[in-house]
Amino acid sequence: MDTLTALHSRISSPRLTGEVSEEHLRNIYKAALRAPDHGRLKPWRFLIIKGDGRNKLGDLFAQAALEENPEQTAEMAEKARSKPLRAPIILVCIAKVVEHNVVPEIEQILSCGSAVQNMLLAAYAQGVGAMWRTGGMAYNDLVKEGLEIKTSEKIIGYLYLGQIDGRSKNVPVLDVDEYFAVWDG
Ligand SMILES: Cc1cc2nc3c(=O)[nH]c(=O)nc-3n(C[C@H](O)[C@H](O)[C@H](O)COP(=O)(O)O)c2cc1C
Repeated sequence: MDTLTALHSRISSPRLTGEVSEEHLRNIYKAALRAPDHGRLKPWRFLIIKGDGRNKLGDLFAQAALEENPEQTAEMAEKARSKPLRAPIILVCIAKVVEHNVVPEIEQILSCGSAVQNMLLAAYAQGVGAMWRTGGMAYNDLVKEGLEIKTSEKIIGYLYLGQIDGRSKNVPVLDVDEYFAVWDG
């Protein structure tokens, strides 16, 4: 797929299954490392969760959900536990924010977000399904601790990757002129 086609048509795939080849995965990882990065801080790192790691992440999610709401039902805990099983591979995308005299926190987080977007596009261009998710589990201290993520770091998303399950959705084509306007003073 050529670059513009990927950029103009990328969609997320919530239903993921199967496996992703190592070659496709490496191409996705390499795309992250070309994110724009003020000061070349490389303000990102990624945890790869697969196989039984997904069950361990599910256990963490269930514990965290219980801590957030001690009155939750077993069904709610199970729902949290099963979330990481929605895809064969999950990347925990972490912004490594540091104090910097020129590059503020927001720019470091944006750089990490750009890395995630690069990965969404690299996945799509290779026919691999992907979905960027957050929810409460991206902002939960117990989850961060369990994943050994420092307090200065931020989970900016879980990138779910897998083979696309089912038919891809159609998305409306937005009108460029609604969002872009010339300003000439
Ligand atoms: C930072 C961020 C967090 C998101 N978190 C979720 C989420 O937790 N659950 C969800 O269904 N979609 C979430 N989304 C939206 C989806 O990833 C996706 O972009 C959206 O469903 C629109 O689909 P599209 O990418 O095909 O246009 C998030 C998007 C971003 C940028």
